[in-house]
Amino acid sequence: MADTLTILGIAGSLRKGSYNRAALRAAVSLVPDGVAIETFDLAGIPPFNEDDEQNPPAAVTELKARVRAADAILLVTPEYNYSIPGVLKNAIDWASRPYGDSAWNGKPVAVMGASVGTLGTARAQYHLRQCFVFLNMHPLNAPEVMITAAHERFDADAKLTDDGTRQRIGHLIEALAAWTRRLKASA
Ligand code: FNR
Repeated sequence: MADTLTILGIAGSLRKGSYNRAALRAAVSLVPDGVAIETFDLAGIPPFNEDDEQNPPAAVTELKARVRAADAILLVTPEYNYSIPGVLKNAIDWASRPYGDSAWNGKPVAVMGASVGTLGTARAQYHLRQCFVFLNMHPLNAPEVMITAAHERFDADAKLTDDGTRQRIGHLIEALAAWTRRLKASA
């Protein structure tokens, strides 16, 4: 079997009962053989300050090291006001700095997200995809996983109860693993 691929999963919500954190937990449990998903919690990342980017806080140094060590990235985003939540954008900004030392450069990346609305974070996901252009990341185009009406798909303990959603998350992880292996082979 090929070497194990490591995917770093980051959820863009700090909320205890977060559907997006729950979706990431579901992804962790759905990995195929030869793939592992590790997670990074954004709770310790302070607001970005360009004055500190040459000597960033320890949590940012750790985030950058974890991103660099991973074969691929999985971002699990809520949608706030039709866009990327500040917590996630803030972490992306920190790990992209200082200029010329971005940890995201060249990383394969997949996105998914859960919202209580009817578009399932579509707008936030496309804003993330715009960031990937400047970050020089390699986004997986399909499948797209936009989890609508999240309050109906997770139970009171934030456990995913919807089989269709579980299946779609599983397909996304398989596709990200295949995409990552393809990029590695052509490197
Ligand atoms: C929201 N929510 C939301 N939902 C959506 O579908 N589109 C949106 O633009 C917004 N905007 C928004 C702004 C802010 C500030 C908050 C707090 C919430 C609702 C959102 O989908 C819901 O709170 C989710 O539960 C957030 O994700 P987590 O925390 O459950 O992962």
